[in-house]
Amino acid sequence: ARSGTLAGKRVLVTAGGTMERLDPVRYLTNDSSGKMGFAIAEAALLMGAEVTLVAGRTAVPPPAGVELVRVESAQQMLDAVTGVYDKMDIVVKAAAVADYRRAAGVSDHKLKKSGERLTLELERTTDVLETLGKRKNHQFLVGFAAETEQVERYAMDKLRRKHCDLIVANDVSIEGAGFNGDTNIVQVYGEEGLVEALPLLSKREVANRLLELIADRLPRSGGK
Ligand code: PMT
Repeated sequence: ARSGTLAGKRVLVTAGGTMERLDPVRYLTNDSSGKMGFAIAEAALLMGAEVTLVAGRTAVPPPAGVELVRVESAQQMLDAVTGVYDKMDIVVKAAAVADYRRAAGVSDHKLKKSGERLTLELERTTDVLETLGKRKNHQFLVGFAAETEQVERYAMDKLRRKHCDLIVANDVSIEGAGFNGDTNIVQVYGEEGLVEALPLLSKREVANRLLELIADRLPRSGGK
Protein backbone atom coordinates (compact mmCIF):
# COMPACT_ATOMS: atom_id res chain seq x y z
CA ALA A 1 0.00 0.00 0.00
CA ARG A 2 1.13 3.57 -0.61
CA SER A 3 2.21 5.03 2.71
CA GLY A 4 0.84 8.46 3.46
CA THR A 5 -2.19 8.04 1.17
CA LEU A 6 -4.53 8.42 4.13
CA ALA A 7 -2.46 10.96 6.09
CA GLY A 8 -4.69 13.27 8.09
CA LYS A 9 -7.74 11.01 7.65
CA ARG A 10 -9.70 9.63 10.56
CA VAL A 11 -10.77 6.05 9.99
CA LEU A 12 -13.24 4.05 12.07
CA VAL A 13 -13.16 0.27 11.70
CA THR A 14 -15.39 -2.29 13.40
CA ALA A 15 -14.25 -5.88 13.84
CA GLY A 16 -15.23 -9.15 15.47
CA GLY A 17 -18.58 -10.53 16.51
CA THR A 18 -21.05 -9.20 19.02
CA MET A 19 -22.11 -11.23 22.04
CA GLU A 20 -25.78 -11.09 22.98
CA ARG A 21 -26.15 -12.32 26.54
CA LEU A 22 -29.06 -14.53 27.52
CA ASP A 23 -28.15 -14.79 31.20
CA PRO A 24 -24.98 -14.26 33.30
CA VAL A 25 -23.18 -17.23 31.74
CA ARG A 26 -24.72 -17.80 28.29
CA TYR A 27 -24.75 -15.84 25.07
CA LEU A 28 -25.40 -15.83 21.34
CA THR A 29 -22.49 -15.01 19.07
CA ASN A 30 -20.94 -15.89 15.69
CA ASP A 31 -17.69 -17.10 14.15
CA SER A 32 -16.06 -13.73 13.46
CA SER A 33 -12.42 -13.76 14.57
CA GLY A 34 -11.78 -10.08 13.99
CA LYS A 35 -9.03 -10.86 11.45
CA MET A 36 -10.66 -9.00 8.53
CA GLY A 37 -11.39 -5.84 10.52
CA PHE A 38 -8.00 -5.89 12.25
CA ALA A 39 -6.25 -6.18 8.87
CA ILE A 40 -8.17 -3.13 7.64
CA ALA A 41 -7.29 -1.15 10.77
CA GLU A 42 -3.62 -2.08 10.40
CA ALA A 43 -3.53 -1.23 6.69
CA ALA A 44 -5.15 2.15 7.38
CA LEU A 45 -2.50 2.87 10.03
CA LEU A 46 0.28 2.01 7.58
CA MET A 47 -1.29 4.40 5.07
CA GLY A 48 -1.00 7.19 7.62
CA ALA A 49 -4.55 7.36 9.01
CA GLU A 50 -5.59 7.92 12.59
CA VAL A 51 -7.55 4.77 13.40
CA THR A 52 -10.31 4.05 15.90
CA LEU A 53 -11.13 0.36 16.20
CA VAL A 54 -14.38 -0.78 17.78
CA ALA A 55 -14.06 -4.49 18.42
CA GLY A 56 -16.45 -7.12 19.71
CA ARG A 57 -15.45 -10.67 20.53
CA THR A 58 -12.28 -11.59 18.66
CA ALA A 59 -9.91 -14.56 18.48
CA VAL A 60 -6.66 -12.72 17.74
CA PRO A 61 -4.95 -9.71 19.33
CA PRO A 62 -5.76 -6.26 17.91
CA PRO A 63 -3.07 -4.24 16.12
CA ALA A 64 -1.00 -1.77 18.15
CA GLY A 65 -1.27 1.93 17.47
CA VAL A 66 -5.04 2.23 17.15
CA GLU A 67 -7.51 3.71 19.58
CA LEU A 68 -9.24 0.53 20.74
CA VAL A 69 -12.80 0.42 22.10
CA ARG A 70 -14.02 -2.99 23.27
CA VAL A 71 -17.74 -3.77 23.16
CA GLU A 72 -19.93 -6.82 23.71
CA SER A 73 -23.43 -6.34 22.34
CA ALA A 74 -24.85 -4.83 19.16
CA GLN A 75 -26.28 -2.01 21.31
CA GLN A 76 -22.85 -1.26 22.78
CA MET A 77 -21.34 -1.29 19.30
CA LEU A 78 -24.04 1.14 18.14
CA ASP A 79 -23.32 3.48 21.07
CA ALA A 80 -19.53 3.35 20.59
CA VAL A 81 -19.72 3.93 16.85
CA THR A 82 -22.33 6.69 16.85
CA GLY A 83 -20.36 8.48 19.60
CA VAL A 84 -17.34 9.05 17.33
CA TYR A 85 -19.03 9.04 13.90
CA ASP A 86 -19.21 12.78 13.29
CA LYS A 87 -15.45 13.29 13.31
CA MET A 88 -14.67 10.34 11.02
CA ASP A 89 -13.71 10.58 7.34
CA ILE A 90 -13.95 6.89 6.52
CA VAL A 91 -15.95 4.14 8.24
CA VAL A 92 -15.49 0.44 7.46
CA LYS A 93 -17.90 -1.98 9.13
CA ALA A 94 -16.30 -5.41 9.02
CA ALA A 95 -17.88 -6.56 12.30
CA ALA A 96 -20.44 -9.34 12.38
CA VAL A 97 -23.22 -7.71 14.37
CA ALA A 98 -26.05 -9.81 15.78
CA ASP A 99 -29.41 -9.24 14.12
CA TYR A 100 -31.32 -10.53 17.16
CA ARG A 101 -31.07 -10.55 20.97
CA ARG A 102 -33.17 -12.02 23.76
CA ALA A 103 -36.51 -10.21 23.74
CA ALA A 104 -36.92 -10.30 27.52
CA GLY A 105 -33.49 -8.75 28.06
CA VAL A 106 -30.53 -10.34 29.84
CA SER A 107 -31.78 -12.52 32.69
CA ASP A 108 -30.31 -11.53 36.08
CA HIS A 109 -30.17 -15.19 37.04
CA LYS A 110 -28.98 -18.28 35.26
CA LEU A 111 -31.95 -19.59 33.25
CA LYS A 112 -33.38 -22.74 34.85
CA LYS A 113 -33.85 -25.98 33.01
CA SER A 114 -37.54 -26.95 32.75
CA GLY A 115 -39.35 -28.91 30.00
CA GLU A 116 -37.92 -30.95 27.12
CA ARG A 117 -38.10 -27.97 24.81
CA LEU A 118 -37.31 -24.35 25.38
CA THR A 119 -38.42 -21.53 23.12
CA LEU A 120 -36.20 -18.52 23.08
CA GLU A 121 -37.90 -15.35 21.92
CA LEU A 122 -35.61 -12.92 20.11
CA GLU A 123 -36.07 -9.34 18.99
CA ARG A 124 -34.27 -7.32 16.35
CA THR A 125 -31.23 -5.28 17.27
CA THR A 126 -30.69 -1.84 15.75
CA ASP A 127 -28.75 -2.04 12.49
CA VAL A 128 -25.58 -0.06 13.13
CA LEU A 129 -24.66 0.40 9.48
CA GLU A 130 -28.16 1.50 8.51
CA THR A 131 -28.15 4.04 11.35
CA LEU A 132 -24.82 5.44 10.13
CA GLY A 133 -26.11 5.55 6.55
CA LYS A 134 -29.08 7.65 7.61
CA ARG A 135 -26.89 10.08 9.57
CA LYS A 136 -24.19 10.39 6.94
CA ASN A 137 -22.98 13.88 6.19
CA HIS A 138 -19.42 13.74 4.83
CA GLN A 139 -18.25 10.22 5.80
CA PHE A 140 -17.20 7.65 3.22
CA LEU A 141 -19.17 4.63 4.41
CA VAL A 142 -18.15 1.05 3.63
CA GLY A 143 -20.20 -1.97 4.68
CA PHE A 144 -19.62 -5.68 4.39
CA ALA A 145 -22.12 -8.27 3.24
CA ALA A 146 -21.73 -11.85 4.40
CA GLU A 147 -23.81 -13.97 2.03
CA THR A 148 -24.27 -17.61 1.14
CA GLU A 149 -26.39 -17.16 -2.02
CA GLN A 150 -27.33 -14.49 -4.60
CA VAL A 151 -24.33 -12.47 -3.45
CA GLU A 152 -24.61 -9.60 -5.95
CA ARG A 153 -28.33 -9.09 -5.44
CA TYR A 154 -28.15 -9.02 -1.63
CA ALA A 155 -24.97 -6.93 -1.60
CA MET A 156 -26.49 -4.28 -3.89
CA ASP A 157 -29.64 -4.32 -1.78
CA LYS A 158 -27.55 -3.64 1.38
CA LEU A 159 -25.55 -0.91 -0.38
CA ARG A 160 -28.75 0.99 -1.24
CA ARG A 161 -30.73 0.33 1.91
CA LYS A 162 -27.82 1.28 4.21
CA HIS A 163 -26.62 4.22 2.03
CA CYS A 164 -23.08 2.85 1.69
CA ASP A 165 -20.49 4.21 -0.73
CA LEU A 166 -19.05 0.72 -1.14
CA ILE A 167 -20.09 -2.77 -0.05
CA VAL A 168 -17.58 -5.58 0.32
CA ALA A 169 -19.34 -8.86 -0.37
CA ASN A 170 -17.97 -12.21 0.69
CA ASP A 171 -19.60 -15.56 -0.01
CA VAL A 172 -18.97 -17.12 3.38
CA SER A 173 -19.94 -20.59 2.13
CA ILE A 174 -16.82 -20.76 -0.09
CA GLU A 175 -13.62 -22.36 1.24
CA GLY A 176 -11.00 -19.65 1.83
CA ALA A 177 -13.57 -16.86 2.17
CA GLY A 178 -15.30 -15.24 5.11
CA PHE A 179 -15.15 -16.10 8.79
CA ASN A 180 -12.09 -17.12 10.76
CA GLY A 181 -9.42 -17.98 8.18
CA ASP A 182 -6.48 -15.84 7.11
CA THR A 183 -7.77 -15.36 3.55
CA ASN A 184 -10.84 -13.92 1.87
CA ILE A 185 -12.44 -13.69 -1.57
CA VAL A 186 -14.39 -10.47 -1.98
CA GLN A 187 -16.31 -8.48 -4.56
CA VAL A 188 -16.56 -4.76 -4.02
CA TYR A 189 -19.74 -3.05 -5.20
CA GLY A 190 -20.56 0.61 -5.59
CA GLU A 191 -23.67 2.46 -6.76
CA GLU A 192 -22.67 1.65 -10.36
CA GLY A 193 -22.44 -2.11 -9.66
CA LEU A 194 -19.32 -4.29 -9.47
CA VAL A 195 -16.20 -2.18 -8.87
CA GLU A 196 -13.66 -4.95 -8.38
CA ALA A 197 -13.66 -8.70 -7.86
CA LEU A 198 -10.59 -9.82 -5.95
CA PRO A 199 -9.23 -13.37 -6.13
CA LEU A 200 -8.29 -15.44 -3.06
CA LEU A 201 -5.93 -13.20 -1.09
CA SER A 202 -4.67 -12.86 2.46
CA LYS A 203 -6.93 -10.65 4.57
CA ARG A 204 -3.99 -8.24 4.79
CA GLU A 205 -3.88 -7.93 0.99
CA VAL A 206 -7.69 -7.59 0.76
CA ALA A 207 -7.40 -4.76 3.30
CA ASN A 208 -4.68 -3.00 1.27
CA ARG A 209 -6.64 -3.22 -1.98
CA LEU A 210 -9.85 -2.08 -0.32
CA LEU A 211 -8.21 0.97 1.22
CA GLU A 212 -6.60 1.88 -2.12
CA LEU A 213 -10.06 1.76 -3.71
CA ILE A 214 -11.47 3.92 -0.93
CA ALA A 215 -8.59 6.43 -1.18
CA ASP A 216 -9.16 6.75 -4.93
CA ARG A 217 -12.83 7.57 -4.35
CA LEU A 218 -12.45 10.13 -1.59
CA PRO A 219 -13.45 13.64 -2.53
CA ARG A 220 -10.33 15.74 -3.17
CA SER A 221 -9.96 18.21 -0.35
CA GLY A 222 -7.50 20.31 -2.34
CA GLY A 223 -5.45 21.43 0.63
CA LYS A 224 -4.04 18.06 1.73
O1 PMT B 1 -13.74 -11.55 11.51
P1 PMT B 1 -13.31 -12.57 10.49
O2 PMT B 1 -13.23 -13.96 11.10
O3 PMT B 1 -12.03 -12.18 9.78
O4 PMT B 1 -14.45 -12.69 9.37
C1 PMT B 1 -14.71 -11.63 8.50
C2 PMT B 1 -16.22 -11.45 8.25
C3 PMT B 1 -16.77 -12.66 7.51
C4 PMT B 1 -16.96 -11.27 9.58
C5 PMT B 1 -16.33 -10.15 7.38
O5 PMT B 1 -15.64 -10.35 6.17
C6 PMT B 1 -17.80 -9.80 7.11
O6 PMT B 1 -18.42 -10.25 6.16
N1 PMT B 1 -18.38 -8.94 7.99
C7 PMT B 1 -19.79 -8.57 7.98
C8 PMT B 1 -20.58 -9.67 8.65
C9 PMT B 1 -22.05 -9.35 8.69
O7 PMT B 1 -22.61 -9.15 9.75
O8 PMT B 1 -22.62 -9.23 7.51
P2 PMT B 1 -24.19 -8.93 7.24
O9 PMT B 1 -24.38 -9.17 5.80
O10 PMT B 1 -25.03 -9.66 8.23
O11 PMT B 1 -24.31 -7.39 7.57
C10 PMT B 1 -24.14 -6.40 6.58
C11 PMT B 1 -23.49 -5.16 7.16
O12 PMT B 1 -24.38 -4.58 8.13
C12 PMT B 1 -22.16 -5.39 7.84
O13 PMT B 1 -21.28 -4.30 7.51
C13 PMT B 1 -22.51 -5.38 9.32
O14 PMT B 1 -21.42 -4.86 10.10
C14 PMT B 1 -23.70 -4.44 9.36
N2 PMT B 1 -24.68 -4.71 10.44
C15 PMT B 1 -25.43 -5.84 10.48
C16 PMT B 1 -26.37 -6.04 11.48
C17 PMT B 1 -26.53 -5.04 12.46
N3 PMT B 1 -27.39 -5.17 13.48
N4 PMT B 1 -25.77 -3.92 12.40
C18 PMT B 1 -24.86 -3.73 11.41
O15 PMT B 1 -24.18 -2.71 11.35
